[in-house]
This record gives sequence, C-alpha cells and structure tokens, in this order.
Amino acid sequence: MEIKSPTGKLGVLLPGMGAVASTFIAGIEAIKLNLAKPVGSMTEMGTIRLGKRTEDRVPRIREFVPLEELENLVFGGWDINEENLYEICIRSGVLENSLVEMVRPKLESIKVWPAVFDKKFVRRLEGDYVKSAKNKLDLAEQIINDIQTFIDSNNTSSNVMIWCGSTEIFFESSEVHSTLKKFEKGLANNDPAISPSMIYAYASLKSGIPFANGSPNLSVDIPALQELALNTSTPIAGKDFKTGQTLMKTILAPGLKARQIGINGWFSTNILGNRDGEVLDDPEAFKTKEESKLGALDYILQPDLYSDLYSDYYHKVRINYYPPRGDNKEGWDNIDIFGWLGYPMQIKIDFLCRDSILAAPIVLDLVLFLDLAQRAGLKGIQEWLSFYFKSPMTLPELYPEHDLFVQLAKLKNTLRHMMDEELITHLGQDYYEDHLN
Ligand SMILES: NC(=O)c1ccc[n+]([C@@H]2O[C@H](COP(=O)([O-])OP(=O)(O)OC[C@H]3O[C@@H](n4cnc5c(N)ncnc54)[C@H](O)[C@@H]3O)[C@@H](O)[C@H]2O)c1
Repeated sequence: MEIKSPTGKLGVLLPGMGAVASTFIAGIEAIKLNLAKPVGSMTEMGTIRLGKRTEDRVPRIREFVPLEELENLVFGGWDINEENLYEICIRSGVLENSLVEMVRPKLESIKVWPAVFDKKFVRRLEGDYVKSAKNKLDLAEQIINDIQTFIDSNNTSSNVMIWCGSTEIFFESSEVHSTLKKFEKGLANNDPAISPSMIYAYASLKSGIPFANGSPNLSVDIPALQELALNTSTPIAGKDFKTGQTLMKTILAPGLKARQIGINGWFSTNILGNRDGEVLDDPEAFKTKEESKLGALDYILQPDLYSDLYSDYYHKVRINYYPPRGDNKEGWDNIDIFGWLGYPMQIKIDFLCRDSILAAPIVLDLVLFLDLAQRAGLKGIQEWLSFYFKSPMTLPELYPEHDLFVQLAKLKNTLRHMMDEELITHLGQDYYEDHLN
C-alpha cells in the first residue's frame, strides 16, 4: 500500500477540553520534556512481530509504520467555559500540580474556542462561552472557520479531530440522519435531532479531517456522516473510549469463553466524582453510556451459539456519582461463574482506576493512527481501531467485534497489510515447513 510520509505539523482538534483532553495534552508536553513515559500507548511502546517466529523481526510499531512525531503535534479545542488548558488541568485534578507546573507555559498558550453547545443534550452543564447563530448550518460554518484559523496560524499539514466532550443524552438515529442531503437540510432548518457532537463531526469531515468519537452518543455513527466521510475520503472511528471496567470485561470474558466456563451473572458498579460522573448522573445521559457498556458481553459470549453456558446470564451496570472520588474511580465487578458439572464459583474485581490516565493514551493512538489511515488512503469506518472503543462502529451488515484480542490481531494485521508484510495467522506450521521438509 502506498502511504504518504508525514510532512509537518499534525493539528489535534478536541471538542470538549475536560479531564481526558487536558490529561492527554499535558501528558504529551511532559513526555516531550522527558519527564514521564507514554505508558499505555501502542504507537509509542508497542512492538509488532513480522514474518516467521524464526526470523526474529520485532520492530517497534513507531519504527514500522510512518507515524507523526510527538514533537509535531499542536493542539486546539472547544469548551463551554473560557479557561486555558492550565486552568482546566488544575480544575480536573487528575495530574499532580507539580507536573502541571512544569508544562504550564505550553498549557497556558493553548487556545480554547467557544463551543457549539445545547443544554438539551447535556442537561447537567451550564456554559457561557458558546457560539450563537441563526441555524445549525451557520454553527457548523463557524467551527470550520475556527479549524481554518487554527490550520493557518499553526501551519499544520494534517489534522485529526477527537470528540472528548460530555456524553449527550440517549436518542436513536432518525430520518434526518439517514442521508447527507437530509442532514444538510436539517442543519439549515435547525432540526432538533442534530446534536452538537454531530455538528463538530460534520465540520471536521467537510474539511477532510478524520474524526473519532470518544463518548457513547451517536455523533458520527449515522449514515449521513458516514456518507460524507466517504465523499471526502476521510477516516472515522468510534464510539466510547474503552477504559476501566469495560476494558477489564473484554479482557476477562474472552478468556472464560475460551475455556468454556459458564456465567450466571455479571454485576458491575462504579463510583466516580468528576464532571463526566456528574453528567452521567442524568438518567438520559446514563442510558447512552449503559447501552454502550452492556453491548460488549453479549457479542463476546455469543449466547446463541453457547446456550448451555450463557443463555441466561444476568448483566447489570451501574454508575454512581460520588464527588469525593474526583477522577479516581472505583469499579467493582461480581461475576458468578460455573464450571464442570455446573459447580458455582465467583470472581470479584475491585479496580481502583484513574479514568483519564487510561483514556489519554487512547487519544494519542487514535490521533496518530487516524492520520496514518488518511495518508494510506483509507476512508470511512476504520474497524481496525475497534480495539480502542466500547461500542465499535461497523458497517450495518456486520456485527461489532468486542474481544480485545481479536481486535488486537485485526489492528496489527492491518498495519502489516498497509506495509505489504505477510499477515500473521498463528498457524504454527512454519518451523516444520522450513526445517523438516
Ligand atoms: N475518562 C474515560 O476513561 C472515558 C472513557 C470513555 C469515554 N469517556 C468519555 O469521554 C468524554 C470526556 O470525558 P472527561 O472525563 O474528559 O469528561 P469532562 O466532563 O471532564 O470533559 C468533557 C468536557 O466537554 C465539555 N463539553 C460538553 N459539551 C460540549 C460541547 N458541545 N462542546 C464543547 N465542549 C463541550 C464539558 O464542558 C467538559 O469540559 C465523556 O463523554 C466521557 O463519557 C471517557
């Protein structure tokens, strides 16, 4: 596959400059100064095996595919309050103040633009730093102008947009989302079913900028915007960063299924106290998240194929807003399993996790891989990036792949395919074929 080389600055555009976005940006600045390591990032730390096991070729992913250098990333974004990135970092309370102080000048220089915001979609937040316009098309044009000003002032040669904004309330895709023509008409007519995250996605794709959705709301996951992505040859990905409890679920469930261990029930509950938790305290926003969190297990366990093991399991997910915890979430899982002759057992997980610490490297990998995908000429839904999402986007005729290890194999094989390397099948016959024939 022909892949253009990265040629200059890569602009990272983030609607929603909250805990995840600020932890990501401050982290990149700290890493650039060698103050910390990019732990959790496949593009920075991962390796990839090439060829047969006997060949001993295991380069770093960064040395294998042409990724943009961290030095060349520049940042911009939108939020509903007028704060600079330094203030957001301190308010979010994820990183230690001493680390934030070391990158303070960089953070203070990062501009946050006024948001496209509609309280109907995020009911727990108030903001006074918002755009006004006669209709939603005009709002999209204002976002496109912000993007253009950012490109001109930073001289970026490519750009990626990642939605890091709050979770919007639950609603299903409808007529206005079904084609690009209807969607554009809806923008002009202020259709109430077009949410702010869709307006950012539209502006991004219209500008030929790859877009990923880090939250569970629809955003780019509608036919109209997928059509636009194909029209403008732009890669897209989503939805909902796979961190914390769902990450654990998609690590553990494939293992239980692989060993044909049955499951009677899986109860997951969380406490968290950041702004994300406050937004999710609204039942309508929680419903969007719940749908996203519930889907994974059914797809992994395939109860229709394994009716003796999984047809009757009870799955419940709860999120509780508990301010004292801030960003340091605690997630409990109780899993009732059964083994040989149906004998019951239990697994308990108590994950004291840091949400934004797990999400930041995902943002980095998505930025670099989406930029790579665009330079490789890929467009539309990038299924090979399912690895990073709780509700992976797929074409309507396909079911999403949730098993973390299948997702990983798919991601790495896509990289091999891009670089014209042999795909790895793990057949294990290579040694015999080479040495015994
Ligand atoms: N942290 C994680 O591990 C994780 C995992 C999966 C998904 N997510 C999702 O990522 C998103 C960000 O998470 P976070 O912890 O940074 O939340 P956060 O509340 O700290 O940040 C979200 C920011 O988006 C802003 N915002 C809301 N609507 C906006 C709009 N229309 N335009 C611009 N800004 C807007 C809010 O003011 C806030 O500052 C959330 O939707 C969350 O559900 C986070």
